[in-house]
Amino acid sequence: MTTPATLPVTSNSDVVLVRQHVRTVAVDVGLSLVDQTKVVTAASELARNALVYAGGGRVRVEIVHNGIRRGLRLTFSDDGPGIPDIERALTDGWTTGGGLGLGLSGSRRLVDEFDVRSAPGEGTLITVTKWAR
Ligand SMILES: Nc1ncnc2c1ncn2[C@@H]1O[C@H](COP(=O)(O)OP(=O)(O)O)[C@@H](O)[C@H]1O
Ligand SMILES: [Mg+2]
Repeated sequence: MTTPATLPVTSNSDVVLVRQHVRTVAVDVGLSLVDQTKVVTAASELARNALVYAGGGRVRVEIVHNGIRRGLRLTFSDDGPGIPDIERALTDGWTTGGGLGLGLSGSRRLVDEFDVRSAPGEGTLITVTKWAR
């Protein structure tokens, strides 16, 4: 079994490993090539955010079931500064880091389920799920 696994996100090379692992599990779950790429792209953006804004974090990668449906769930967590205004952070183009401000908003569009829990000083927990069709 390739899942569940919790991977560190503490360097750029970790981000590469996260992308590779997510791709492998996405194939196992039976996601289409397009959906594999979508979830790998979301994973990459969320991992990069954990690295840049929180100084690192981790991601749990697991296969989930809903009846006969299988899905891939990623749970990113970090103990960084948190996101004071989640709605604003999810707005296209909003950035505090001089980026494109499309990581969170774009990731939300690339997956089926997207949940952010965060508060100032309490870190950030982001869960995304992509279901096989
Ligand atoms: N894990 C995180 N911890 C703290 N703040 C975050 C985190 N992820 C995102 N943010 C905040 O949300 C903003 C938007 O993120 P994102 O959409 O990925 O755009 P960008 O990374 O280009 O700024 C970031 O600029 C940052 O302020
Ligand atoms: Mg980003």
